Amino acid sequence: MNYQELHIESISNPSQFWEKQAKQLSWYKAPKKILGVDDFNYPQWFVDGKLNMSYLCIDKHIEDGFGSQDAIIYDSPVTKTKEHISFYKLHDEVSKLAGGLLALGLTKGDTIIIYMPMIPQALYSMLACARLGIIHSVVFGGFAPHELAIRIDDCKPKAVITASNGIEIDRIIPYKPFVDDAINLAEHKPRHVIVFDRNLGLEMPQKSYDIDYSDLVAKSVSVEPIPVESNHPLYILYTSGTTGKPKGIIRDSGGYATALKFSMKHVYGVEEGDVYWAASDVGWVVGHSYIVYGPLLNRNTTILFEGKPIKTPDASTFWRVISEHKVKVMFTAPTAIRAIKKEDPDGDFITKYDLSSLKYQFLAGERCDVSTLRWTEQHLKVPVIDHWWQTESGWPMLANMVGVEKMPVKPGSAGLPVCGYDIQVLNENGKEVTSGVEGFVTVKLPLPPGTLLNLWGNPERFKAGYLQRFPGYYFSGDGGFKDEDNYVFITGRVDDIINVAGHRLSTAEMEEVVASHSAVAECAVFGVHCDLKGQKPLGLVVLKSENGLDETAITRDIIKEVRHEIGAVASLKDVLVVKRLPKTRSGKILRKLLRNISDDLEYNVPSTIDDIAIIEEIETVYKKSQIGIHKNITKHE
Ligand code: COA
Ligand code: AMP
Repeated sequence: MNYQELHIESISNPSQFWEKQAKQLSWYKAPKKILGVDDFNYPQWFVDGKLNMSYLCIDKHIEDGFGSQDAIIYDSPVTKTKEHISFYKLHDEVSKLAGGLLALGLTKGDTIIIYMPMIPQALYSMLACARLGIIHSVVFGGFAPHELAIRIDDCKPKAVITASNGIEIDRIIPYKPFVDDAINLAEHKPRHVIVFDRNLGLEMPQKSYDIDYSDLVAKSVSVEPIPVESNHPLYILYTSGTTGKPKGIIRDSGGYATALKFSMKHVYGVEEGDVYWAASDVGWVVGHSYIVYGPLLNRNTTILFEGKPIKTPDASTFWRVISEHKVKVMFTAPTAIRAIKKEDPDGDFITKYDLSSLKYQFLAGERCDVSTLRWTEQHLKVPVIDHWWQTESGWPMLANMVGVEKMPVKPGSAGLPVCGYDIQVLNENGKEVTSGVEGFVTVKLPLPPGTLLNLWGNPERFKAGYLQRFPGYYFSGDGGFKDEDNYVFITGRVDDIINVAGHRLSTAEMEEVVASHSAVAECAVFGVHCDLKGQKPLGLVVLKSENGLDETAITRDIIKEVRHEIGAVASLKDVLVVKRLPKTRSGKILRKLLRNISDDLEYNVPSTIDDIAIIEEIETVYKKSQIGIHKNITKHE
């Protein structure tokens, strides 16, 4: 079947289509009820099926005779370590850690937070939870203790699994001390903190709740995976929303396993035994789906890379990893390519490596600009595939399904709808727009398996955020348009979420921190263009009318505070003092207008704005600080 036929089949008869895909997995109890709906008419997949993700990712491959195959290759330029981990070894580590968790009294339905750097123990921990039906929530290491505390209070874990430290390019990140700080800040107190000591010389104050990871595993006996219901939550993954409070996306087990297995073959074009590399972090959805569960389910060797595209030690690292481990398909964010291109503009490093194993380079996480796409194609000489998805979907919604049929690549487009996704671009009134017209990117229900089940502890927010705006559709939060061939072009978020180096961040959360500074009367934080990271946050503050304020000291304090409260990942480095902020008559700050001015885009000054002089004041501040180029602005009043 070609792409078009397969896509049509998946939309016209979803039950039949996904029942067939679910048969690719070994269930303890094969599902009979394929597709149902809940009270909001929201799809529920395979509800009477039973399976276990840890079994499917490990034990099944050993039973099939592939125990000696590499399951994981851990490649860590920051510690100069490489380790090949077979399915046998993975089984040993995971089943014993699961035994340890069980001995601590943790059972199915409990929650555990995992706050770890990119080391094998992070993967063992996720898979050990899955083995017992414990719901894990991995928190990205770039988040500060305060953010970790918010997540601890939301999902109330009985235990946290962490490591002594992580390693960034220029510094050691004290993970365990951050966990202690977070527990201090949180109202909920986890019973245990299981600590993997990397023995890198970090001083770690001992706490009564500490348990040594290695001791726990050494003393434990292996346990078998337990069957869980298909819609039992495998994990909660927090992501930024439009308010200051992150949203806990709940992922099911059976639908997710079915979708990931399907995507490995049909979207990424990899077969069992191939080496697959997603250069992301286990703290993001890409890490969950395509460092851990997808490749392991499909019996691929997954690369666990603890490093950066540059400076670890240089811009050749990615090419070294591909050639050394014979990677067939690689996935990274356009930012990583831009960082490499900046250091090695002519791709000289690339020519030094044998990249003949590489068949496809996938990109996602943010909009891919045409010059990055072209540079990558020119130097890697393989198809470069932009594809679009989000934490909520769990797997690609738009792509070029190279495992089915390689379609022509259209620069600027994230491709065609993936099987199972009926993507429609709607206008304000919920009517589908014609090709070329920009609108809201939605998916007509039912969503396929593997997509979010709900929001943890907040079904009302789930309904309000995703389902109510366009009844009968899931709203992605992105804007975009289709062309006459049905290719979709994503133009960016239509809300206040920004995307910095492929990391999704909430400006509302940053604004809360900025506004809490004692010298700030009001503020706005929004995303502006950044050549390297795609976007970066910019804060504008109006100070309280006190004399003698040291503006430089205040902006420095604000930047420090955001880093302290949210974490280094927030990347807020620019805060400017302005006299006033432009608002509508009803008092709403015009963030889009502020962004358009800074990005040198054409903008309209709405007729409702109180005073045109405010815009001119802001333009002057931008010019002084060299934000925006301000060449071709056309004002319309
Ligand atoms: N733990 C602690 N701190 C972390 C961290 C982690 N796991 N990950 C990032 N940080 C810190 C960084 O050290 C940096 O701190 P700094 O401001 O003191 O330099 C800050 O958070 C911002 O990180 P980042 O935006 O990643 O910038 P960077 O300058 O360190 O690296 C790139 C720039 C382009 C190399 C990097 O962003 C990159 O590799 N991007 C690819 C993104 C990606 O894979 N995204 C996943 C989605 S698919
Ligand atoms: P996250 O949930 O962190 O994966 O971020 C998802 C968001 O990143 C999407 O809603 C988009 O705004 C953006 N995004 C991801 N991939 C792409 C892409 N290929 N093109 C454009 N935007 C993308």
